[in-house]
Amino acid sequence: MKRVLKWTGIVLAGLIGVIVLVALVGYFMSNRRLNKRYDIAVEPISIPSDATNLEEGRRLTVIRGCGAGDCHTSDFGGGVLLDDPLIGHIYPPNLTSGAGSATAGYSIEDWVRSVRHGVDPDGKALLIMPSSKYAGLSDEELGLIVAYIQSLPPIDHIQPESQLGPLGRVLLLTDQAPLPVLSTEVIDHDATAPKSVTPVVSADFGKYMVGVCQDCHRQDLTGGPIPGAAPGSPPAANLTPGGNLANWTYEQFATTMRTGLTPENKVLDPLIMPWPVALEMTDVELEAIWLYLSSLSPTSAN
Ligand code: HEC
Repeated sequence: MKRVLKWTGIVLAGLIGVIVLVALVGYFMSNRRLNKRYDIAVEPISIPSDATNLEEGRRLTVIRGCGAGDCHTSDFGGGVLLDDPLIGHIYPPNLTSGAGSATAGYSIEDWVRSVRHGVDPDGKALLIMPSSKYAGLSDEELGLIVAYIQSLPPIDHIQPESQLGPLGRVLLLTDQAPLPVLSTEVIDHDATAPKSVTPVVSADFGKYMVGVCQDCHRQDLTGGPIPGAAPGSPPAANLTPGGNLANWTYEQFATTMRTGLTPENKVLDPLIMPWPVALEMTDVELEAIWLYLSSLSPTSAN
C-alpha cells in the first residue's frame, strides 16, 4: 500500500512539474512576442482641419469602429474592452489630449504607425488593436480620422495598462483568437496604402469597407462565437452565401442594417449586433458591402 502511495506521489509530482514547465515556457515565449520592438519607417500624411472635413472624420470613426462599444468609446476617453482574469484586461487608451492621454505626444508618424502598423511610438506591439484591418486605409481617410480625434475636447481618464491573462497568452501562442492578438505580426509593413479610394458600388470597395464587420463575424465572415462576450450571447451570424443572407435581397439587407429587424422578423440587439453603425453609411458603402458579401464563396458557419 505504502509503495502504491509513493508511486502515485511521484507520478503526481512529475505531472505537476511538467505543467509548471509548460506554463513557464509558454509565459516566456509569449513575453518574447509581447515585448518585441518593431522599427517601422512611415511617411507622414496630411491632416485636414476645416469643419466639413471634421464631420466626415467623425463619420469615418463610426463606420470604421474606432469608438465602437467598449473600445475607444464615443468620447474617445477609452473604455474597458475585456476584464477577464483568464483572457486578459484590455483597456483601449484615452486618445483625447486630457490627463491619461496615450496620444498627447504623438507626431503624425506616430499616428500612422499605431493605426496602420499596430505599434506604439517605442515600436512595441499594441495589444488587440485591430490594425490589420486599418493597414490599407487610404491616406485621405486616415487623415480625416486623425483630424477628428485631435479636434475632440480633452477627457481626463487615466487607464490602467492592458494585460493578457493565461488564456489570452494561449490564444496568442496558438493563433486561435478570432482576430490577431498582436496585429502588427500579420501586417505587411512594406505595403503602400492608397492615397485615396473612390467610393463605388463594387465588391472591391465593399472589401475595403467590411473591416468593422470582421471584428465579430471573423476575418472570413463565416461568424461564430465571440470570445469574451457575455454568457448566453448569440454567435455572430455567417455572412457568406453559406448562411441566411443567401435568402435575402439587397433591399432586405439594407433594411436589416438600418432598422435592426431581419426579414425573418428577428430583432437584432444593437448592443450585440451594432446595426446603427450602418445609419452612418452611404447607400454606396452599404451596397458595396452587400456585393462583397455576396461574392464570397458559400462557407458553412464556425
Ligand atoms: C460587435 C460585434 C458585431 C459587429 C461589429 C457586427 N456584427 Fe453583425 N452580428 C453580430 C452578432 C452577435 C449577430 C447575431 C445576432 C443574433 O443572432 O441575435 C449578428 C448578426 C448580423 C446579421 C443578421 C444575420 C441573420 O442571419 O439574421 C447581419 C446581416 C449582420 N450581423 C451584418 C453585419 C455587418 C454587415 C457588419 C459590418 C458592417 C456587422 N454585422 C458587424 C455581431 C456583430
